[in-house]
Amino acid sequence: MTAPVRENLTGLDLRAEIDRLRKERNAVILAHYYQKPEIQDLADFVGDSLELSRKAADTDADVIAFCGVKFMAETAKILSPEKIVILPDMDAGCSLEDSCPPEQFARFRAKHPDHIALTYINCSAAVKALSDIIVTSSSAETIISQIPEDQPIIFGPDRHLGGYLNRKFGREMLLWPGVCIVHEAFSETELLKLKAQHPGAPIAAHPECPPHIVDHADYVGSTSGILQFAKTFPGDTLIVATEPHIIHQMELALPEKTFIGAPGADGNCNCNICPYMALNTMEKLYIALRDLQPRIEMDEELRLAARKSLDRMLDMASGTVGKGDLGRA
Ligand code: 13P
Ligand code: SF4
Repeated sequence: MTAPVRENLTGLDLRAEIDRLRKERNAVILAHYYQKPEIQDLADFVGDSLELSRKAADTDADVIAFCGVKFMAETAKILSPEKIVILPDMDAGCSLEDSCPPEQFARFRAKHPDHIALTYINCSAAVKALSDIIVTSSSAETIISQIPEDQPIIFGPDRHLGGYLNRKFGREMLLWPGVCIVHEAFSETELLKLKAQHPGAPIAAHPECPPHIVDHADYVGSTSGILQFAKTFPGDTLIVATEPHIIHQMELALPEKTFIGAPGADGNCNCNICPYMALNTMEKLYIALRDLQPRIEMDEELRLAARKSLDRMLDMASGTVGKGDLGRA
């Protein structure tokens, strides 16, 4: 893990300094829904992986300050190579990316030459370069429905998202055995106990959750899909089975409703907070904007190879915003 910030920033109005630097640098601050509330509150845009990719591709800012994890900032660099892309903490990784080293993924591909590689965006640029089409959780359904049924597919690195798509679409994609450590940590027993305490409350789950959680969900979808469900469900209490920082947006939009994070194994742990997303702090964002470091750099050949599968995602997902989610009808 990265060293903590050693500079003494006491007395500095971080919010004001970040605002000043954002103007001076002509920077846009993009944040994922799993970021700390104070970062979500100052971001120019908060969104899911697909929305953030689109923003990164379209922005006319000179600098993209990406408050998310490394594969997201890398995606921004692949789509906007002329921009400076900074990530407050370069150690903000992802367990799904870690589960899928490119050399092993290349061997897996080579064993199945008749399969195309449909790959979740939560992977390295090198794995993107080895893939045919990238998906996010909000575009996967739209994209998979455009692939002929007789086309064999390998899907990585998230076996739970892949398994969910297999069940929903009656496909038999070969699955890479990766998981998200955050969504893996939800406990079915504790979820059922919570449900018994709030019998009328629906459950909304991210498809990175294992099947024993997803099977209890009234709604399954990406972070933006879950947020949309939270804004429209008719009750007053919702159980949320994804990283709990998204609840900040729900409470801002619907202060009169109650949102409860789904529990982990001890019924009340912090194990569902993404430890990688949590590495980004206001202090590190301030330093990153001031120094324009840490910065995403990428070999041009790798970038161009990774761009092909990302462009295919953007093309196949386009025109379907709001319809292409994994939400159950
Ligand atoms: P979304 O695309 O749904 O925002 O998911 C990103 C992610 O990392 C979930 O763990
Ligand atoms: Fe990766 Fe899971 Fe964190 Fe998302 S929540 S960034 S999938 S470790």
